[in-house]
Amino acid sequence: MAAAAAAARSPLLFLMVMLIAAMMPPPAAEAHVQIGAYNKTCPQAEEVVLKEMTAIVAKSPELAGAVLRLFSVDCFVGGCEASILLDSTANNTAEKDAPLNRGVRGYEVVDAIKAKLDAACPGVVSCADTLALAARDSIRLTKGPFIPLPTGRRDGNRSVAADVALNSPPPGATIADIIALFANKFNLTAKDVAVLSGAHTIGKARCSTVSPRLYNFGGQNGSSDPTLDANYTDILRGQCKPGDIATLVDLDPTTPAVFDADYYTLVAGKRGLLSTDAALLLDPTTSAYVAGQANATSSDQFFADFATSFVAMSKLGALTHHKGEIRQVCSKVNPPSSPSSNAAARSYHLTATAGLAIATLAVALVL
Ligand code: HEM
Ligand SMILES: *[C@@H]1O[C@H](CO)[C@@H](O)[C@H](O)[C@H]1NC(C)=O
Ligand SMILES: *[C@@H]1O[C@H](CO)[C@@H](O)[C@H](O)[C@H]1NC(C)=O
Ligand SMILES: *[C@@H]1O[C@H](CO)[C@@H](O)[C@H](O)[C@H]1NC(C)=O
Ligand SMILES: *[C@@H]1O[C@H](CO)[C@@H](O)[C@H](O)[C@H]1NC(C)=O
Ligand SMILES: *[C@@H]1O[C@H](CO)[C@@H](O)[C@H](O)[C@H]1NC(C)=O
Ligand SMILES: *[C@@H]1O[C@H](CO)[C@@H](O)[C@H](O)[C@H]1NC(C)=O
Ligand SMILES: *[C@@H]1O[C@H](CO)[C@@H](O)[C@H](O)[C@H]1NC(C)=O
Repeated sequence: MAAAAAAARSPLLFLMVMLIAAMMPPPAAEAHVQIGAYNKTCPQAEEVVLKEMTAIVAKSPELAGAVLRLFSVDCFVGGCEASILLDSTANNTAEKDAPLNRGVRGYEVVDAIKAKLDAACPGVVSCADTLALAARDSIRLTKGPFIPLPTGRRDGNRSVAADVALNSPPPGATIADIIALFANKFNLTAKDVAVLSGAHTIGKARCSTVSPRLYNFGGQNGSSDPTLDANYTDILRGQCKPGDIATLVDLDPTTPAVFDADYYTLVAGKRGLLSTDAALLLDPTTSAYVAGQANATSSDQFFADFATSFVAMSKLGALTHHKGEIRQVCSKVNPPSSPSSNAAARSYHLTATAGLAIATLAVALVL
């Protein structure tokens, strides 16, 4: 209104208002992640990630699963803002050092890709987007779907170990616990639980995770989890000897390095490795999804569903626009005075806006 009135009186004043408006942060409604957020600032970003990730997975195929899980544990605690990558400091124990995250791996992959990105476009791409795009490429590189992924996430500055247990399903979680957690904390559905669990078609779990199902189940010597196929139990006992906590076993032993719908065939046949995989059979929605995919003739439906749920997960708690920062080192928040730190970014904005306003006013006065 004021601008329109001003425009009527003076086109120059109108121009000034528009110029200043252009310098202001866009309204909150525009602050969201979007496809191709780096189109202008780093057009080669997604290519750089794919190229580096391709080389990494060619050399060490097991890192595809590691990075995919790294992304999910980032998103589920405080959002996809790279909090999982921050190191503990003298006065703070970070998420990565929480007991539930002891088996999380693949941190070095993000560092390697971020180094390539910073060589191509210094200080432009966040650690959160580096991890998100690397996880997206883990899926594509293991013959899963290509998922167009919105970007524009910035990096957070909070990583507190105690947040992890509050936002993650514990190893013994019931399916009701998991569905409630996804609904209440993440606004994700029971179907999303069934679909995202399909990520366990690649990657590995530690014997410390698996052994409670194999030995002394329910405190009884010699017992194993009755919901785990007895023959598979024997095979797993051969891989995870009593007391072995470190050995890694495949989540999907038939096709461990292929992102496919076989996971659901395994779960339907009591061969889901984790107790939370087996638990998908105990809820009507998730068990219906498992049954549907277990006998599917192609993975098309699973791929389409996974793309939808994965994008929804990737948007959790994303920091956009002036929230967050572009970390220089993914394991550390930026030093307070650095150009891309929060405070510095904001004061630059203010200075630039004020500067332009003064310059425009000066021009207006002269005219
Ligand atoms: C439904 C809730 C989920 C639970 C309870 C869960 C639990 C687990 C557990 C216990 C492990 C084994 C960890 C270990 O022994 O070190 C694991 C591994 C894995 N998870 Fe999940 N997960 C869930 C959802 C997800 C989601 C949403 C994704 C990705 C989209 C995912 C991807 C993976 C991958 C790829 C691995 C293998 C990691 C590796 O090879 O290092 N999980 N998960
Ligand atoms: C970036 O480019 C792609 C491909 O042309 C397009 O689909 C996308 O909307 C663009 N995104 C932005 C933010 O410009
Ligand atoms: C940790 O200690 C440093 C240095 O004493 C201080 O600047 C910082 O604010 C502290 N951080 C937290 C989370 O307490
Ligand atoms: C929850 O997700 C649904 C879509 O599944 C969406 O329509 C709704 O706006 C979301 N609610 C919140 C609070 O984000
Ligand atoms: C369990 O049973 C085996 C063989 O029956 C025995 O060697 C072992 O000591 C028992 N363990 C415990 C904890 O009772
Ligand atoms: C389990 O193993 C037994 C004996 O080795 C075999 O007879 C049986 O067919 C197997 N069952 C399944 C479901 O593979
Ligand atoms: C898959 O199909 C077979 C044969 O039609 C059937 O016996 C089995 O119960 C189906 N499995 C599931 C999980 O629906
Ligand atoms: C941490 O991030 C929050 C949210 O973006 C911000 O308000 C706060 O100033 C940041 N703290 C530091 C020390 O950068």
